[in-house]
Formats: sequence, structure tokens, C-alpha cells
Amino acid sequence: MGILFKNGTLITATEMKATDVLIAGETIEQIGENLPTANHEVQDCTGLYLMPGGIDVHTHLDLPFGGTISNDDFDIGHKAAAFGGTTTHIDFVVQPIGGSLQDGLATWRAKSTTAQIDYGYHMAITDLNDAVRAEIPTLLDEGITSLKLFMAYKNVFQIDDATLFSTMRIAADHGMLVMVHAENGDVEAALTPALLAAGKTAPKFHADSRPPEIEGEATNRAVVLAGLAQCPLYVVHMTCIPALEALRRGRDAGYPVMGETCCQYCFLSVDEHLAAPGFEGAKYVCSPPIRSAADQEALWNALNDGTLQVVSTDHCDFWYDGGHGPWQEWQEKTGGTNWADYEKQDPSYRRPGKELGSGDFSKIPNGMPGLEDRMLVMWEAGVNQGRISPQRFVELHCTNPARVFGMHPQKGTIAVGSDADILVWDPNLEMTMGVATSHMRCDYNVYEGMQIRGKPIRVYQRGNLLVDGEEWHGRNGNGRYIPRKANAAIL
Ligand code: URP
Ligand code: ZN
Ligand code: ZN
Repeated sequence: MGILFKNGTLITATEMKATDVLIAGETIEQIGENLPTANHEVQDCTGLYLMPGGIDVHTHLDLPFGGTISNDDFDIGHKAAAFGGTTTHIDFVVQPIGGSLQDGLATWRAKSTTAQIDYGYHMAITDLNDAVRAEIPTLLDEGITSLKLFMAYKNVFQIDDATLFSTMRIAADHGMLVMVHAENGDVEAALTPALLAAGKTAPKFHADSRPPEIEGEATNRAVVLAGLAQCPLYVVHMTCIPALEALRRGRDAGYPVMGETCCQYCFLSVDEHLAAPGFEGAKYVCSPPIRSAADQEALWNALNDGTLQVVSTDHCDFWYDGGHGPWQEWQEKTGGTNWADYEKQDPSYRRPGKELGSGDFSKIPNGMPGLEDRMLVMWEAGVNQGRISPQRFVELHCTNPARVFGMHPQKGTIAVGSDADILVWDPNLEMTMGVATSHMRCDYNVYEGMQIRGKPIRVYQRGNLLVDGEEWHGRNGNGRYIPRKANAAIL
């Protein structure tokens, strides 16, 4: 006995057609018209769409960063993701400075024991030495095929060009992909103190400390080095025209280079959001910063013309109104380091958030919520408003993420033999975006008040029902680690 989705409209990256879909156990068994109903649980999908579960390849759950720890974890964050139609994500393991890649992996494995949806890991390299160089190829045995390097966040995560190029050569030799956060961190580190010294401390000056030029320059550098090393490159969270131009130049030259943007960059602007009165703009502080309306338009065009391959979130949420409490004291007393352990004892406590940077924009924790919102707001602005087709929507949010990161065709599509990660999407269901309708652990939503039409009403992961309307059916530990394949597609 399987589950038969009857009379729905299937959307994949290549087609949109009326058909039935049968799943048996964890996989998709049959796709076709008028499939027999006998012995199956039948779901009438008349008027509904069937899409693959979304894949968000850029998340930071439970990340120690900016003097605190990001709010959502492999429990609440997973639930929120699924309510928004995302059934798989890839999080960034961070190599501890002075430690090994395996040290980082052990930390992330411990965070992931509560998993409710499927997940994978990228490896962020922060400290390259001979031992780490030798360790990189062994990540393939762990199903990790992508390496992340930060060209910004000086004295925290930032690496130098020698590290970047050296890592690219190793990656190229082993069928791995290099991902970069492309901003010139040295220039940012020169601009920030000058702004602060001039009394420019409000959130909006974060954008002046990280102008489009430093993103364009770093993107160009990474693209050229990738071309030289013949290393597949994926530029994360691209925001602006100079960066898109650098990527286009590399692609026109035949370099194996790709890029993503994140949904927030398609909607939010410095003038309207970062420059909001008082400290309100802190909600929108992320790096690279949100940009201008012209950049938003350029990003939509790049999503359409194939310059960009993927939409992700860079989900990294912090309380707007966090607080300082006994968390540090508890750590000192017990030696504990796990936020979840602490929170069990004091569920009312909020870890510090954006308020860390009141009076100094450079101390505002960088990042915002989005994991649950991505598919909802991109469907509204992309498909409903005629910017992208439903097929391109599926390609950008489901199929390409799986292809680029070595999970296709297991994930990212509805095809016979693929995992039965299925969204039953009601294109007519309306909702107001905001904290009241969100499942993320955050006290603000960057799309507050936005009206959307279209959302998943049922969400399946490997044949298991996770979401049914407002009901949650997932279970801790049911989320599965997805080992990924090397030599993945270069799109
Ligand atoms: O502001 C951001 N993007 N926070 C998360 C860390 C990163 O740079 O991706
Ligand atoms: Zn980044
Ligand atoms: Zn990120």
C-alpha cells in the first residue's frame, strides 16, 4: 500500500502537467495518468500542485557568531523549514581555529541529533595547514563535497588569497566545490573604524562599511582564481550589480563558476529597511548588506537569464530584542556549552541578539531569519507576479540545489526512484507573512505584513507526513544525514 496523489498538477524543473504520483515507502514509485487506486491511500489533489521538497543549501543553525548564537537549531529550525516547504538543507560546519575538520564535524553532529528534516554539511575552512590540507580529501568519505571560505570577517573566519587558491587546487583535484563569501574583509576593516570615529554608528552605516565595490572586487578575485585553478566555484549570497558582472565575465570566459542569491536581497533595501528609524534597521543587518532597488532588479534578471543558479536563505536569525542573562554564568558553573541544554532549564531566557550593537553597528550580529519564508515569498514575487515560471521556481529552489551539491536525482525532483519529498501546494491559499504566522524562533520577520498566495498544505519527507495544514507530524531524530556525491554538476 502506497500513497497515491491523484489529479494534481506536477511541477518539475522541465514541465508542468496533470498527472498522478504514487509513492511507496520512502520513494516515488510511479508517475502517470489514471493510476489505479486499489490498496492505496488516495489523496485528491484536484486544483493543487505537486512539487519536490525545497532544498536550502545555505543555513547557519545554532551557529556561535557575533558574540552570541543563532536562534534556530536542528529542531525548531527544521520544523519551520518544513512549514515553508523546505525538506532538506545544508548547514555550514565551521573548523575551529587551531582544530581539525573532524573537530568541527563532531560539533555539528552533536547539534544535529534532534534533526526533523534531511540535512547535509558543507565544511568551512578557517585555518589551513598541512594537516588540514591532508584532511580535505577524507571529507569525501563523510559525504561532504563542498568547502566554504570566507573572504571577509577579518580576525574571525577570514582567510587569505593563498589559502583560497591552495584550497581550490585541492578541491579541483578531488571533484569538490569551493564556495566563497565574497567581500574584501581587509577593506571593510579599514572603512568601519573611520565610520565609527565619525559618529556614524547607526545600523544603516553597516552598508557603507561594506559597499558593492568590495563585494564585486572579491567576487572577481574568486572567479579569476577559480578559472586559473579550474576549480568549480559557487559564490554565496550575491547581492549587487558589480558581483553579478564579475560572475558573468567568468561564465562568459568558460570558467566553472556559479552563484546564488538569497531571498532577502530580492526584497529588502538600504533606504527602506536598513535606514529605518531608531535601531529598527538592526533587524536587516547581514553581510553582504541588503542593497538598492536597482540591485534587486538585477538579481531577478540574473535568476531568469541563468547567471544565478540557486536561491537560498543564509538563515542565521538573532533576537531583535534579546537579552543578557544567566547563560554565561551557567556556562562557567557547569562547563556546559550547549545552548539547548541551558534552554531546557530556563526556557524563558533569550540569548543576546541584535541589541549587542546598539551604539555600534559593527557589533550587531549579522544575519536574519528566512528558512521558512524562502519558497513562500519567492513564489509570490516570482511566479504570481510573473517574474519567473513555476518550472524555473522549482529549478532554483529544489532541482539546481540538488544538482550543484551532489544530491540529484535522490533529492530535488519528482521522478521514479527519487526520495518521496513532496509538497502538496495550494496555489490559492492566502496568508500574511509575519511573526504571527511563522514557526521560526525569532521576534521579527523581515516580510512582516506581506500578503502571499500559494503555500504547501501538506509536506512529505521520504513518504512521511511532516506538515498537514497547521499540524506538525515530524519527530526528532527522523531527519536523515544525506551524504553527497563528488564531481557534481556545473550549471
Ligand atoms: O550576515 C550573514 N550573512 N550572516 C551569516 C554568516 C554569513 O556570512 O553567511
Ligand atoms: Zn557569508
Ligand atoms: Zn551564510
